[in-house]
Amino acid sequence: MKNHKIIFHFARLISFFVIVISPLFFTQSILAACLTSSCHQQLKTFAQLHEPLVEGECQACHERVVEEHPLKKGSSFKLVADGAALCLECHDAFDPASGKLHDAVAEGECLACHNPHGSNGDGLLQAGGDLKVICFECHDGTPFAQEFVHGPAAAGVCLECHDPHQSNNEALLLHDSKSLCLRCHADLATGLEDATVIHAPLNDEACNSCHEVHASPFAHLLKGDGPKFCFSCHKELADKYNKAGTKHTALYKDGRCGNCHAPHFSSYAALLPERESDVCLRCHGKDDFHRSKALKNIRTELTEKEHLHGPLNDGDCSACHDPHGSDFYRLLVNDYPESFYAPYRKGTYAFCLSCHEENLLRFPETSIYTLFRDGKRNLHYTHVADPRKGRSCRACHQAHASNGPKLVNEDGAPFGNWKIPLRLVLTETGGSCSPGCHRRMSYDRKNPVIKK
Ligand code: HEC
Ligand code: HEC
Ligand code: HEC
Ligand code: HEC
Ligand code: HEC
Ligand code: HEC
Ligand code: HEC
Ligand code: HEC
Ligand code: HEC
Ligand code: HEC
Ligand code: HEC
Ligand code: HEC
Ligand code: HEC
Repeated sequence: MKNHKIIFHFARLISFFVIVISPLFFTQSILAACLTSSCHQQLKTFAQLHEPLVEGECQACHERVVEEHPLKKGSSFKLVADGAALCLECHDAFDPASGKLHDAVAEGECLACHNPHGSNGDGLLQAGGDLKVICFECHDGTPFAQEFVHGPAAAGVCLECHDPHQSNNEALLLHDSKSLCLRCHADLATGLEDATVIHAPLNDEACNSCHEVHASPFAHLLKGDGPKFCFSCHKELADKYNKAGTKHTALYKDGRCGNCHAPHFSSYAALLPERESDVCLRCHGKDDFHRSKALKNIRTELTEKEHLHGPLNDGDCSACHDPHGSDFYRLLVNDYPESFYAPYRKGTYAFCLSCHEENLLRFPETSIYTLFRDGKRNLHYTHVADPRKGRSCRACHQAHASNGPKLVNEDGAPFGNWKIPLRLVLTETGGSCSPGCHRRMSYDRKNPVIKK
């Protein structure tokens, strides 16, 4: 209320036709005249004044139409021009050649955003420069009020991304959408430069093929939730996810797809964050991990073993297991029986035989297809193709690794609560074993033990 005193002085001085120099900006009598206590002194309260007001040039915009002022009804003044034309008396018009105009600008609605006299913010903006007030006069603000709001959108700094007047980019953006994002997300920009594998949409499309830019009901501003979001592009995996006979729990808990994949880029194939086997062993390399199925700790199965099963030398678990789900035992990529006894028939061992010679099981006699033979007698056939008691490969072989050669299962295959030890000894031309199934027996490819 101190102002009253100052204003009172103003009025007195004006009534004596004295030219007063305002302690702030005002130098001219007209301005002073207009800003008397009873009239437009509120114009002085702006922190920033429009230059013509500083110069006291009210008439640059207001033209007197009748002597009398103030009028009871109507106005003694009219604007010297309407809409944008008024501003263009002094400012250059926006050149449509330098970008598509914001509709609000094209329609000459300068005053929707600017106060012609002054502002308590920057740029002569209305509402003290609060863009959330200004922009939401015309645009729907509700999408910005979702659960997860992008930092700069929450802060209302629309101008970090948009030009208010015009732009050559879509949506009045300051830069093309991707460089716009990478300007702030610099760690991602460096990551993309160094990456060997880049998720295709980051090459070809804008970040907003996956992200909302203002706000989203989903974490990380994503356009969707969990696997369903990934399936919007990877449709072929949705069926597997929903219908696989053997489901991989890894897809249904915690980070879901993100348990194994980086979203943007990586140094390993298939956007894996590290070597494939290391990704699997994050979970399958712990003792206390497998609760419901009591699965083995695969890390201990592999550590310090002399022989790794072929694909494992390259850390390639997915050569044998489909990480996304399969219709076969243990997520294997093809048929492999679960039971100890499973006589060979076409298809029974399709899994092993997708990489190994099928003929090693097909003929009672062979001289080339397997080393596991006594003379010509095919002992794979004897053991596996026996229609009554054909034994599965696990009776003699390890799936992942072994200390002895030929992936022989030295620990022994589980048989009920017991483990059948194999005790295999190989020779140049054959071998012998004394498993829990029979006495030590030998085979020899050159000099058959069992003579015909
Ligand atoms: C750059 C142009 C410009 C200048 C300079 C200008 N005005 Fe205005 N003024 C306007 C416009 C445009 C409007 C209409 C605003 C609207 O319709 O929202 C206006 C409206 C007004 C109004 C009526 C509505 C209101 O905001 O109270 C008054 C009173 C007024 N001006 C006084 C002044 C005075 C006093 C000065 C000099 C100190 C001045 N104007 C200088 C452009 C200007
Ligand atoms: C009588 C001349 C004149 C008219 C008419 C005029 N301006 Fe200005 N305006 C100026 C001058 C002079 C400046 C200060 C120099 C500059 O920034 O170009 C200025 C500055 C501005 C600024 C920059 C403020 C800042 O410092 O960030 C904005 C915004 C602006 N004017 C908007 C408008 C709008 C909107 C209109 C129409 C309602 C308008 N002007 C009409 C003369 C005018
Ligand atoms: C949608 C809102 C909006 C509309 C409509 C709008 N402006 Fe602006 N204008 C802004 C914003 C925001 C700024 C930047 C303020 C800042 O720098 O903080 C700005 C800045 C300006 C500036 C300062 C120099 C510059 O270009 O940054 C001038 C001059 C200006 N506007 C004139 C106009 C004129 C003339 C019109 C009408 C033809 C107009 N504006 C319409 C929002 C708008
Ligand atoms: C006076 C009303 C008005 C105001 C205030 C306004 N806009 Fe607009 N804006 C429009 C209209 C009309 C359109 C065109 C129709 C649409 O896309 O909604 C538009 C379109 C846009 C577009 C889309 C342009 C495109 O080519 O797709 C963006 C981005 C935008 N406005 C941003 C802003 C921002 C940021 C502000 C605040 C600084 C703002 N607007 C304030 C009226 C306004
Ligand atoms: C981080 C950058 C960024 C910020 C900050 C930002 N926007 Fe946007 N905005 C975009 C991008 C990118 C698009 C176009 C792509 C899209 O809509 O997905 C867009 C589109 C728009 C559109 C047109 C399409 C639509 O969604 O209706 C409007 C209007 C808009 N923004 C207004 C605003 C307003 C108002 C603010 C401030 C409260 C703001 N934006 C802040 C990046 C941003
Ligand atoms: C002006 C700087 C700026 C620009 C431009 C920008 N961002 Fe951001 N972004 C931020 C900030 C700040 C955060 C919050 C960081 C934090 O909380 O650690 C953020 C967070 C994010 C997040 C993470 C949200 C979360 O909860 O994990 C995503 C996703 C994102 N931005 C995407 C984008 C996209 C897409 C664009 C381009 C349309 C973009 N950003 C442009 C500043 C920016
Ligand atoms: C193919 C979809 C996709 C595209 C395209 C994409 N993102 Fe993401 N982004 C994601 C997913 C999924 C997450 C969540 C990852 C998680 O769960 O940790 C994410 C997370 C983020 C985060 C927060 C976590 C972090 O890594 O800091 C930021 C920031 C981000 N993205 C920015 C961007 C930017 C910038 C672009 C464009 C250069 C972009 N994204 C393009 C899918 C995508
Ligand atoms: C347990 C780890 C793991 C999880 C969880 C996982 N993936 Fe994979 N994904 C992999 C591995 C390993 C590969 C590479 C080997 C291959 O192609 O099978 C791969 C490959 C891919 C490929 C490229 C090759 C192909 O099969 O089309 C896509 C796309 C893919 N995953 C999407 C997804 C989606 C979507 C999810 C979530 C529903 C998901 N992944 C969950 C491990 C995983
Ligand atoms: C906007 C579409 C889109 C979305 C959403 C999307 N992807 Fe992709 N993704 C692609 C395209 C396109 C490719 C390259 C072609 C292909 O392999 O199908 C690809 C490839 C991949 C690859 C193989 C990468 C390689 O180079 O080996 C993986 C893994 C992958 N996506 C995982 C995911 C995961 C996980 C999600 C969910 C977080 C996801 N994608 C969401 C479009 C998308
Ligand atoms: C995020 C943790 C996690 C990762 C990473 C992971 N798994 Fe799993 N996996 C599980 C869980 C949990 C189960 C179910 C265990 C249970 O029910 O006891 C499982 C089960 C399995 C099974 C047995 C399936 C069955 O039902 O018989 C196989 C085989 C398997 N995973 C292979 C892999 C392979 C190969 C990889 C790497 C490509 C991998 N896992 C990565 C968590 C994971
Ligand atoms: C050459 C094929 C092959 C490769 C490569 C392979 N596996 Fe296996 N895996 C199998 C077979 C076959 C079984 C079933 C063994 C059985 O029950 O007789 C199995 C079983 C499993 C099981 C269930 C173990 C249990 O307790 O029954 C897990 C977990 C597993 N594998 C994980 C992995 C991981 C992790 C990798 C990579 C480090 C991997 N596998 C690589 C063939 C393979
Ligand atoms: C994805 C392909 C693949 C599958 C499936 C596969 N293996 Fe192998 N296996 C290999 C490769 C590669 C080698 C090493 C190459 C070699 O020495 O012949 C190998 C080696 C072996 C060896 C040792 C041979 C030697 O001379 O040292 C045995 C035994 C074996 N596999 C048994 C099996 C059994 C049993 C199955 C089914 C449970 C199976 N494999 C499934 C690829 C596979
Ligand atoms: C009764 C034990 C036994 C069973 C059951 C068995 N194998 Fe073998 N397998 C052996 C022995 C012993 C050798 C090593 C022969 C040698 O080098 O003297 C061998 C060798 C192999 C080899 C190396 C190439 C060859 O034939 O010499 C492959 C591949 C193989 N087995 C695959 C399988 C597959 C696939 C199954 C299940 C369909 C299976 N084995 C079942 C004992 C068995």
